[in-house]
Amino acid sequence: MSNVHLIDHPLVQHKLTLMRKKTASTNSFRRLLNELSMLMAYEVTRDMALQDVEIETPLEIMQAKMIDGKKLVFVSILRAGTGILDGMLSVVPGARVGHIGLYRDPKTLTAVEYYFKMPQNMQDRDVVVVDPMLATGNSAIAAVERLKELRPKSIKFLCLLTCPEGIAALQKAHPDVPIYTAAIDRQLNDHGYILPGLGDAGDRIFGTK
Ligand code: URA
Repeated sequence: MSNVHLIDHPLVQHKLTLMRKKTASTNSFRRLLNELSMLMAYEVTRDMALQDVEIETPLEIMQAKMIDGKKLVFVSILRAGTGILDGMLSVVPGARVGHIGLYRDPKTLTAVEYYFKMPQNMQDRDVVVVDPMLATGNSAIAAVERLKELRPKSIKFLCLLTCPEGIAALQKAHPDVPIYTAAIDRQLNDHGYILPGLGDAGDRIFGTK
């Protein structure tokens, strides 16, 4: 699958397995998602541009490499995307944050927008859209479509789990958007849930079920 980056580091796979277990408490699910988000942030920022800056070590002046974190925007698809944000921000504290509120119409499974707030000057920024689950792809497609209106420099999509249907849908609509994921599961069920999956990510993060 082109443009799909499978983050198969053993630590990522191990923590994901712990999260999948139905016995994982809300507390441990949230903590594991936070740890996984830090590890995934490491992968999704791998090709970020570096600048040379002059610094002084205790011994001499040197040209050293730094990223410009402020140019990066993490866009969380509410509400489950919020669970990924903290971990990402602890690795890139200078990043800006945008929010897109989308809910899935339970009958049609299509995405309906209810909130959209982005930092200014999006045309100068690289965007990483985050949502734990890329399932039908409807929310991801709608979020990317909306973001493209602001013409950011680049858009990546980061999730924890996806499935062949979600990848196909997002790639068909936005072939230019690379997908970063920790796992590609077997399939979607009739209710738009990923199998074997981990259940409803939002409910498991916030303990709402
Ligand atoms: N959203 C979820 O939270 N879980 C799924 O399996 C699919 C979409």
